[in-house]
Amino acid sequence: MQRIVEEVKSRIEIPVYERSIENVLSAILSTGDFWKIVDISEEPLPLVAEIIRVLEKEGLVKITDKIELTEKGLEFVKEYGIGKREDHICECCEGRGVSLKPYKDILEKFKEIAKDRPMPKHEYDQGYVKEECTVARIALMNSRGDLYNKDVLVLGDDDLTSIALMLSNLPKRIVVVDIDERLINFIKETAEKLNYKNIEIITLDLRNPLPEKYKKKFDTFITDPPETLYAIKTFIGRGISALKGERRAGYFGITRRESSLDKWREIQKILLNDFNVVITDLIRNFNQYINWGYEEETKAWRLAPIKKKPEDIWYKSYIFRIETLKGSKGFDEEVKVGDELYNDAESSTT
Ligand SMILES: [Fe+2]
Repeated sequence: MQRIVEEVKSRIEIPVYERSIENVLSAILSTGDFWKIVDISEEPLPLVAEIIRVLEKEGLVKITDKIELTEKGLEFVKEYGIGKREDHICECCEGRGVSLKPYKDILEKFKEIAKDRPMPKHEYDQGYVKEECTVARIALMNSRGDLYNKDVLVLGDDDLTSIALMLSNLPKRIVVVDIDERLINFIKETAEKLNYKNIEIITLDLRNPLPEKYKKKFDTFITDPPETLYAIKTFIGRGISALKGERRAGYFGITRRESSLDKWREIQKILLNDFNVVITDLIRNFNQYINWGYEEETKAWRLAPIKKKPEDIWYKSYIFRIETLKGSKGFDEEVKVGDELYNDAESSTT
């Protein structure tokens, strides 16, 4: 085991532990599909790919049209007491912890509208969640008291959260910021069709700070940043700067697919030390992303040991809810980074 850890360590900059190897082996015991192995093991994709290569080299794993343990591999897991990973998520809410029953009409209307959405664009690291997830965000935010009669800011909106917000008719005002004109136009047209007036839609690259008139004006923000520390600091920091002050809420997704737990710890340090906010909710795999269609252009595809498109949803992210307290602060500086906003050693879908 130690030899495998050392070998993986020499090949990749993502931190690797015995537990990482154990998680991948556990996942291989339940599926032979690479994308599912990444999903179940909850280790970053580039690390999973490298672990599988080393396991193959050690003769523990065989790669054909699927990934499976060899005789030697089966002995190895037995020796280390590694069992098959089982996941028992609630069938009612798919683990999101909120009921969509009161939002049935909204979900239906939302699905109808979303049929005509612009397709994800690789250059902006876009990829959207399935419709149930977008509406579940409304259920979650509403159940935490963050929507009714509130000023809500949506920072980046390829999931069309602003449209679900309009359909809910809960917020007092909605402001949407996005870099992509296609999305901006789609949301504008939808607002017109719905005859919804309390929405403002602006084009902005979040590398730049929000215009002054949007600072300290909101009760709630939601965003889904690319998962580099730069992007997290920038997107969430902008959101916090836009909040009116104490006891206001922010929501965002963070995945295990592109962020190791070591990066999670850095993210949590930013939240606690830099922003001085508190994490109130953290819900596993709340967001499930529809396979975005440009898989073959991604690093994930280049790293995949078997070139077969994913059949099911494998990219999921946890949702965080944070709340501001006395002394919380956001981030207003301009960031002068290019590609590093989207890419680090752990990313793979960009
Ligand atoms: Fe449930």
